[in-house]
Amino acid sequence: MSPPTFAMAPDGIDPARVPTRTLHTGAKIPAIGLGTFGSDRFSAERVAEAVLGAIAVGYRHIDCASVYGNEASIGRSLQAAMDGGVPREELWITSKVWNDMHGPGDVLRSCTQSLKDLRLSYLDLYLVHWPFPNHHAPGVSVDSRDPHAVPYEHEAYMRTWRQMERLVEMGLVRHIGTSNMTLPKLELVLGDARIQPACNEMELHPHFQQAELFDFVLRHGMVPIGFCPIGSPTRPERDRTATDTVDIEDPVIVEIARRLGVHPPVVCVQWAVQRGQVPIPFSVHRHEYLANLECTVSTPLSDSDMGALAGIDKNCRLIKGQVFLWEGARGWEDLWDPERRIVSE
Ligand SMILES: NC(=O)c1ccc[n+]([C@@H]2O[C@H](COP(=O)([O-])OP(=O)(O)OC[C@H]3O[C@@H](n4cnc5c(N)ncnc54)[C@H](OP(=O)(O)O)[C@@H]3O)[C@@H](O)[C@H]2O)c1
Repeated sequence: MSPPTFAMAPDGIDPARVPTRTLHTGAKIPAIGLGTFGSDRFSAERVAEAVLGAIAVGYRHIDCASVYGNEASIGRSLQAAMDGGVPREELWITSKVWNDMHGPGDVLRSCTQSLKDLRLSYLDLYLVHWPFPNHHAPGVSVDSRDPHAVPYEHEAYMRTWRQMERLVEMGLVRHIGTSNMTLPKLELVLGDARIQPACNEMELHPHFQQAELFDFVLRHGMVPIGFCPIGSPTRPERDRTATDTVDIEDPVIVEIARRLGVHPPVVCVQWAVQRGQVPIPFSVHRHEYLANLECTVSTPLSDSDMGALAGIDKNCRLIKGQVFLWEGARGWEDLWDPERRIVSE
């Protein structure tokens, strides 16, 4: 396979204009990234092509994960961008350790594999993808269960976290962070971590604003990275339930989009950046990922639009995590510590 070629796009956005957020180390993370979870819709090659196209139009932050099964292809795009003149220091590359790699020595193994696949000598951010060691085969139905699945166990999580800290000490990753956490779990981790989480990746979109956790994350010096920023409108059927709402059909979003002459997804992205989270919208379509980047440097939403958007929260979690449930759990809500107490059995 011949290596992809790279050139900056004349109609792109100067990356220096894209806002950034400052982390506890003083490092700056671009305020928008490109998601790379192609699910069962897009091949690794298609996602990797979008990564190259996104860097060409001015993205510098790419949200990867070993479980997305496309890091080796994305690595070819990153290599092409760097060979084409994009300095490594300009890029912000995140990856995540999957749930089946929490055991002794596994975190280093997983990180080393991601670095090899992504063709990098260090990651900017490495996340614990989920706080459970529970896993499942890709693409299974939401009813399938891992017979070995267990609830959150703090000592076990901290053993994984110590391995994450070691990666920072080894210079393999610059920052470490959490994902799919709840407030009580984060409280425990913050109390016991030697190296604090720099970021918490969490589901955030206008219909799921998670105000309490969002404020907690900011208050404790972490940057919230928001996944499914558009409400993941094209997620697989198996990930939908009858009560899910659709952000981009919300009359408030539709009306703001109509008035500004943009598509509703762009309003979701602009709201996210302006609220202070780092959205990581996914798209393989150039006009979409370019529009998502453009809105970060265009006229801000008015206070009245931001106020209206703050008012449409529906507490509608889309990524419920059913497949991670353990024997005896009451339902997916248990993964998210409903009463602000960790559900441990
Ligand atoms: N940490 C975690 O556990 C976790 C969990 C979930 C996701 N993530 C990350 O978050 C990323 C984003 O989440 P997501 O992909 O589920 O949802 P999303 O970004 O909310 O939605 C993506 C979909 O929105 C559509 N879209 C994007 N920009 C658009 C635009 N400007 N106009 C019209 N449509 C647009 C695209 O549809 P079409 O493809 O039809 O164009 C795309 O497939 C993932 O790729 C992944 O990197 C992390």
